Amino acid sequence: MALLSKPNEKTESGFSPIPVIDISDPESKHALVKACADFGFFMVINHGVSSELVSVLEHEAVEFFSLPASDKTQVAGYPFGYGNREIGRNGDVGWVEYLLMNANLDFGSHSFFPGLFNNPETFRNALLEYTTSVRKMTSHVLEMITDGLGIEPRNTLSKLVSDKNTDSIFRLNHYPPCPHHINTNTNTNGGNNVIGFGEHTDPQIISVLRSNNTSGLQINLADGSWISVPSDPSSFFFNVGDSLQVLTNGKFKSVKHRVLANSRKSRVSMIYFAGPSLTQRIAPLSCLTDNEDESLYKEFTWSEYKNYAYHSRLSDNRLQPFER
Ligand code: OGA
Ligand code: NI
Repeated sequence: MALLSKPNEKTESGFSPIPVIDISDPESKHALVKACADFGFFMVINHGVSSELVSVLEHEAVEFFSLPASDKTQVAGYPFGYGNREIGRNGDVGWVEYLLMNANLDFGSHSFFPGLFNNPETFRNALLEYTTSVRKMTSHVLEMITDGLGIEPRNTLSKLVSDKNTDSIFRLNHYPPCPHHINTNTNTNGGNNVIGFGEHTDPQIISVLRSNNTSGLQINLADGSWISVPSDPSSFFFNVGDSLQVLTNGKFKSVKHRVLANSRKSRVSMIYFAGPSLTQRIAPLSCLTDNEDESLYKEFTWSEYKNYAYHSRLSDNRLQPFER
C-alpha cells in the first residue's frame, strides 16, 4: 500500500483557501472563472439540489456497500459495475470500493443498474432524480462560467454536457476506515497516510462531488503542495476535467486530486462526471485563441481521449500526447 507525506498543515489549522461560490448570485461568474483558473476546483453553495434526494441516494449507497463481499462481487464488472481496491485495469490500487454506473441522458437498456439493492426501484429513481438535478446545476455553473469568460452563446459549454448522447458517469466510492496496523510498518517518506484513491485528474469536462462528513480529499496547488478539502455534506465540490482544460486552451486547470484513507471513519462520496458525447470534437474554443497557432493542444474526439485514458495509469499526465 502506498505511503505518503503528511497532509498540508494549512487546513489543519482551520484555514482553507478553497473558493466557496454562491451560484444563486449571477455576479459569482467572475469568482467562478477565477477559481477554475487558479485552482481548477471550487465549492458550491445555494445550489438548489434537494438535500432529501442526496440523503436517499447516500442511504442506498451505504446499504449496498454493507452487503457481503460475495454479493457485491456478483456485480463486479468493467467499465461499469463494482470494484474493490483495483482502480482501472492498469495496476492502480487504493483503500476503496466503488460502484460505477452509466449516467447517460438516455438512460436506456444499456444503463447499468445492479439488481442487488433491497429495492432496486428506489435506487433507480433516486439515481435518476439525483443525476437530473445535478446535471441541471452543472449546466447552470457552465453557463455562468461562459458568461464570466465573455463567451457567446451562453450554452457554448453547457450544451456539451446536456446533449442527448452525453457520455456521463456516476460513481459511488466507499473508503472504509483503514486499520491502524496498516499504517505503522514501513514508512518510506516520513508519513503515515494510506492512499484511498491515488492522485489523478478527471478526463471529462467537469466533475461534481458530494461526500458525507468524512474528509480525505486533497487537491494539488499550483506550487505542488497538497491541501485537504474540508468535508461539507450540504455542498458540492466541482473540479475542472482534462477536456475543459483543453477547451479553454489551458486557462483553466484540470486539478490533480487524491483521497487519503481515514483511520476511524468511512468516507462515502458520489461523483457525477459530466462528459460530452463520444463523437464530440475537443479543441480550444476559437473565441479563446486568436489563431490556430496559439492552440496548445491537438484536436481529438472524446471517444479517442477516453480510450487513451482507459489505458493509462491514474497518475499519468494524460494530456501530454495531445500537446502541441
Ligand atoms: C474520483 C475521485 C474522490 C472521492 O472518483 O475520480 O476523485 O472523494 N473521487 O471519492
Ligand atoms: Ni477524481
